[in-house]
Amino acid sequence: MSLFRKKSLESMLAQSAESDTGLKRTLGSWQLIFLGIGAIIGAGLFVRTAAAAGEAAGSAVTLSFVVAAVGCAFAGLCYAEFAAMIPIAGSAYTYAYTTMGELIAWIIGWALILEYALGAATVSIAWSEYLNKLLGMRIPFQWCHSPFESAMVDGTMVHGMVNAPALFILLLLSLLLIRGTQESAFVNAIIVFLKVAIVLVFIAIGWQFIKPENHTPYIIPANFPGHEGFFQHGWGGILKGAGIVFFAFIGFDAVSTAAQEAKNPKRDMPIGILGSLVVCTILYILFSYVLTGVAPWADFNDPAKGKEASVAYAISTYMAGYGWLATAVTVAILAGFSSVILVMLMGQSRVFYSMSHDGLLPKIFSHLHPKFRTPYKSNLILFCFVGIFGGFIPGAIAGDLTSIGTLLAFVIVCAGILVMRKNDPNAVRPFRTPLVPFVPIAGMLVCGFMIISLDHLTQLSALAWMILGLIIYFVYSRSRSRIGLMK
Ligand code: ALA
Repeated sequence: MSLFRKKSLESMLAQSAESDTGLKRTLGSWQLIFLGIGAIIGAGLFVRTAAAAGEAAGSAVTLSFVVAAVGCAFAGLCYAEFAAMIPIAGSAYTYAYTTMGELIAWIIGWALILEYALGAATVSIAWSEYLNKLLGMRIPFQWCHSPFESAMVDGTMVHGMVNAPALFILLLLSLLLIRGTQESAFVNAIIVFLKVAIVLVFIAIGWQFIKPENHTPYIIPANFPGHEGFFQHGWGGILKGAGIVFFAFIGFDAVSTAAQEAKNPKRDMPIGILGSLVVCTILYILFSYVLTGVAPWADFNDPAKGKEASVAYAISTYMAGYGWLATAVTVAILAGFSSVILVMLMGQSRVFYSMSHDGLLPKIFSHLHPKFRTPYKSNLILFCFVGIFGGFIPGAIAGDLTSIGTLLAFVIVCAGILVMRKNDPNAVRPFRTPLVPFVPIAGMLVCGFMIISLDHLTQLSALAWMILGLIIYFVYSRSRSRIGLMK
């Protein structure tokens, strides 16, 4: 049996037509754009913008956003071609199955667990931190930290027990997902309105507080004290900043996991993927321009000033009379994190759905609820799995692993476009990636470069995860594969 056996495009399209018994097609183009924005705007914008400005890019963090957006746009254009052509749940995993065969598909499905499941866990931990901040740090330390964390509280050493708020938000959103895709999309849309409104209000009000001297010089000069390294000033700093804010774009690809629930995927998938990417890029550039105009970027690298809770710090320190906006931003951050978690959990369950449908994972992951037609057992198992990370593991471990899993998926999707154009040039393509082979090759290069720039520990952890995945594939999945059994 070949490791590279493929699913044919015809069988994929037949699977997409099975929707009478499968997932329900309920999502329109606006809901898909909203799902994208729901997954995209979160910790990346509210936390990492200031970090990138303070550590590496200065005011030119706006250019870092442009660089990261260009990398994502290359990958996004490739995703759009596939999502319109193969409107099946499962996203990059499914595309790889058609173009590069089962082993690569498995590898990508396994990498997507890093993006979606670990991404949801990371953001649930950040959610817990911000909730505690909003409540005036009233949650006892042991109930909002993992057993691996400890701190001096009132003169005694306290150990964490469980991150209960993280578990709470994961459970709440898992139950919402079980209740229905349309219901989840509705709640997501409300959250998106709220967070986009607050981002716009911040941009509009903050614009009046921009001081031109904070933007001068716009790019950190080479002789700036403490920023002498190649990646700490000038264009090197802008590139490093792009790596830091890349996290802010993760999620646009999650739209493609819902392809099997889109009413008109051929038209709406490209609109959902590229539309949410464009909207967020514009908001990010404006937001970062205002943030670094209101406060000097060096404040964001100073623990005594705005290194933590940087947006709230900039408002309360430099925008007199707008204390309420600092609280509103914290609420928007909480809401923003919730929708990121929601779409990540949804994306993960849809990838598992497809892998289970193909026989590579146990059948339980594709059982649908008799009434809600959502993969409810998968959602519950996923809650337990993600909950172990969210409730019992420190947040810092998971963040960069999320990026590496995502970048790996991007590289394989870009490569998949080249393979598909060669192997099946006449397939019906409702959306065509422009400038092939330039766009996919540029996407692979930019994303590959970002993988190399991540730290060694992250790369090694990702490698260990992939080896575990290969063991499971050879011990369990390979012999149970649906197309393997059909042969
Ligand atoms: N893009 C998502 C965020 O910034 C993952 O939180």
